[in-house]
Amino acid sequence: MEKTVNPGLSALDEGRKADEPCTIVIFGASGDLTVRKLIPALFHLYKDGQMPEAFRVVGFARRDKTDASWREEMKAGIERFSRSPEVDSKQWDAFAENLFYHRGDLTDAKAYASLGTRLADFGNEQLANNLVFYLAISPSLFGDVVDRLHDAKLLHRWEEGDPFWQRVVVEKPFGHDLQSAHELNAQLVKHARERQILRIDHYLGKETVQNIMMFRFSNAIFEQLWHREAIEHVQITVSEDIGVGSRGGYFEEAGTMRDMMQNHLLQILSLVAMEPPPSLAAEDIRNEKVKALKSIRPMTPESVAQQVVRGQYFAGTVNGDTRKGYRQEERVDDESNVETYAALKLFIDNWRWSGVPFYLRTGKNLPLRASEVRVQFRPTPSVLFAAQGDLDLDRNALTLRLQPDEGIFLRFNGKVPGTTIATRPVRMHFGYDAEFGAYTPEAYERLLLEAMAGDATLFIRRDEVETAWQFVDAIRAGWGDEPLSNREFYAAGTWGPEAAEDLLAQDGHVWHNPQPSK
Ligand code: BG6
Repeated sequence: MEKTVNPGLSALDEGRKADEPCTIVIFGASGDLTVRKLIPALFHLYKDGQMPEAFRVVGFARRDKTDASWREEMKAGIERFSRSPEVDSKQWDAFAENLFYHRGDLTDAKAYASLGTRLADFGNEQLANNLVFYLAISPSLFGDVVDRLHDAKLLHRWEEGDPFWQRVVVEKPFGHDLQSAHELNAQLVKHARERQILRIDHYLGKETVQNIMMFRFSNAIFEQLWHREAIEHVQITVSEDIGVGSRGGYFEEAGTMRDMMQNHLLQILSLVAMEPPPSLAAEDIRNEKVKALKSIRPMTPESVAQQVVRGQYFAGTVNGDTRKGYRQEERVDDESNVETYAALKLFIDNWRWSGVPFYLRTGKNLPLRASEVRVQFRPTPSVLFAAQGDLDLDRNALTLRLQPDEGIFLRFNGKVPGTTIATRPVRMHFGYDAEFGAYTPEAYERLLLEAMAGDATLFIRRDEVETAWQFVDAIRAGWGDEPLSNREFYAAGTWGPEAAEDLLAQDGHVWHNPQPSK
């Protein structure tokens, strides 16, 4: 039965398990995501005893394969892509018995009818009717697949008291602007309730991103300082040390603002900025997140010019590795103006954050891969140390390191031992690995588990997606067709265009670049 009480973040308990028998149907079973992420994640959940007692996985795709050949392919995928590539053959065989391949064309009604027969043949009502439909396919096909699932009586709008449930899992991009997202969402909810639609932002599946909320609301020392009177500004950095690789074609349509800012960075922002929810229920949490997003001051063409910087990499070296420029990448126009970097300053116009700048930046081919939230506190009054003249007191700062080397650091001033009154910034450091051991489940493990358990907390609600698009659309409209200027290019392996430094310098701040792993 569909859960009416949402366990929310109690899911952080070790040993959480999806308890109702169900079948996961993966549309796009021949694709990369299935072999690299989904099946390895399901196998991990299985090994950890987190799958339901009875489950099936059905891969739906057009290519001609048998159950046996698909199983072999998936096994090879685990050996190649999984975080623990050693496959115990006994465990694998037991898991693989539950994998089936269903050949069919997404646009062919008969393929859905035969899928229904196949599900019924499992001989268990729950396996045939508790269904997670994972759409690992182009968003342009979402509407069609949902219609056909409905026509084949495989997807039902959930009503209170229904003995079975169906859920539809979709991946970004959720549209390319507000209008298209709106249309896509309308197609998705045509035959299902919003709560049956689970939109994935894989950043929400990351342990450290989930910890943002727990950290804020369970620690009095920080919770009491989490507002405009104590915080001077906040920096959110998601840097990548890779270029667009083979995804040039996709990137030409997307650009960093749509690919990263609209989703991952604004999601992190909403968790950093949200008010405490009345409970840990999914809807309560998502209500607060969307409220934070709605409080972002909208961008105007003038504020875009002053508060947003875009950039594109040209050839350079990242960690000794030579990289070509974006315009030289495969399937990229050699005069492309698409951004591979974006930095911006925004304000959240609510009681808590009034006047506090939030600086967000993300880019490809930067010096290293790291995601961080850095909260910089206001200084103490300078009266006491004024007589010391050049005593340069550092601002206290709290850094949530989201990946890699997951941890939390607090930077404060300490007196240098000796007879002078010199101070020096020192750090307190909590590392996940040191504290909890190497526990690094892939985001997809957590997200698939929640999809089966019916907890929507880690998925994005329709109004979150649409509010984020509204913000991003205004920025893109501000850019218009204006080509990139010289100041907007950066060499691969550097921290982005110069203009991004000026964005903070004009407020008397500097970017704090994440440090490399030790
Ligand atoms: C994806 C983007 O959503 O996130 C990619 O489409 C990006 O362009 C990726 O590389 C980054 O994810 P992660 O988990 O490696 O930080």
